[in-house]
Order: sequence, then structure tokens, then C-alpha cells
Amino acid sequence: MTAISKPRGASRTPKVMITAGPTEEYIDPVRYITNRSTGTMGYSIARECLKKGFSVSLITGPVCLKPPAGAKVVKVVSAKEMLKEVMARRKAHDCLIMAAAVCDFRPRFVAKKKIKKQKTLKMTFVKNTDILGDLRGHKGIVKIGFALETDNPVLNGRKKLKSKELDLIIVNAIRKSRSPFGDSETDYTLISKNGVARHLKKMSKPGIARVIAAEARRMTERQQYDK
Ligand code: CTP
Repeated sequence: MTAISKPRGASRTPKVMITAGPTEEYIDPVRYITNRSTGTMGYSIARECLKKGFSVSLITGPVCLKPPAGAKVVKVVSAKEMLKEVMARRKAHDCLIMAAAVCDFRPRFVAKKKIKKQKTLKMTFVKNTDILGDLRGHKGIVKIGFALETDNPVLNGRKKLKSKELDLIIVNAIRKSRSPFGDSETDYTLISKNGVARHLKKMSKPGIARVIAAEARRMTERQQYDK
């Protein structure tokens, strides 16, 4: 009789790294640029992933939320700091969910002293590293991203899924009538690597977080089995 061996790693606790919230990019000691992210999505996903049996690392930008008990929390401020923390941990995790609204730009120079009042102020911004994009070619981790779009949400979502080599993307269309920020309900489209799109209407953040956590668990188990 031939013994069927268990796939390596299939029985250990799966580890997910979740990024949440905005980043802040300093201009001078008292000013920064940021965006409207509240962190609700990332924190809801962290909570649901804990319920699904994941070990959770939460890399969080500055938000006013209480992290779920049981998550390992790493606080960051800027995109550079978030990049550093994600890269340092990538090999120790089975899944990455990039729910953070990373600032795409930062000021070229950070003034050491407060910039004094003046008639006009010209500033140059430089591009921040695309954290998910930087993980292109990095195998052995399930990668889930988001796309926040004002125009052609599904088309742009598919483009991001492909260019960032993701396993799943959650597309969130910004409409005047329904804000994607904070606690409001909104529509989402989930697009997987094989091109299948699933439309979910009027979902709350905890509702969509449950769906994402279940998908993350399913894809992570499959990857562990395939390893
Ligand atoms: N993202 C990232 N690093 C960045 C910017 C975004 O990892 N510097 C991630 C986000 O966390 C998200 C996905 O990439 O999961 C898409 O983010 P989004 O802001 O929708 O798109 P961008 O790639 O920034 O492109 P654009 O703003 O031009 O639409």
C-alpha cells in the first residue's frame, strides 16, 4: 500500500499581511499630504482574517481605529516606511492584502523648518515606489490588491491586476452618490487572475471584508497545497 503524504506546510497556520489606512508624506515639520482613507477596510479585513484562522500582521498608516485583538500591529507613517515593513516581512507570509491607500507622490524635499507664509509656493513631488508593483515576480505569496477608480473601473481594474501580477483585485468605483470612504455601503467588483469578475452591490465594509477573507483563505490553502 502506498502512503499518501500530506503536502508540506498544508496544516500550519496561514499567515496574512494586511496593509491599511493612508500614508502621510511630510512637507515640513508640521504639514503633510495624505488622502481620505480611514483604514476601515483594512481593519475589517484583518478582523475577518483572524476569524478565518489566519495569523495576521497589520501594517497600518495613521488612523483613529482600534486594531483587532490578536493582530500583530506595525505602525508606519510614510509610503517609504510601509514599503520597508512589507518587504522585510514578505517571505514570512503566505498572503498579502494591500488595502492601504498609499500616497503615489511625496515632496522631493522635506523642509527642516516650518515653511513661512508666502504669496505662492511651488513644490515638486516625486513618485513613491509602487509596493505591490515591486513584488512583481515574487512567487510563493498570494497577492490581493484594490483599485479605486473614477473612470472605466472594470477595465482599469483588469489592467492593474495584470500589470501588478495579482491573484485578485477588488475594484471600487468612486461615484458622487456613494463615497468609498468611511462606513458607507458601496458596489465592488472582484476580478480574479483567470479573468472572472464578480459584481457585489451595496456592500458594507465588514460584508466585503468577509468575502475577501474567505477568498484569501481559499487561495492561500490552494497555494500551500501546490507548493
Ligand atoms: N499600491 C501600492 N503602492 C503604491 C500605490 C498603490 O502598493 N505606491 C497598491 C494599493 O494598495 C492598491 C493597488 O496598488 O492595492 C492599486 O492602488 P490604486 O491607488 O488604485 O492605483 P495606483 O497603482 O496607485 O494607480 P493610479 O493611482 O494611477 O490609478
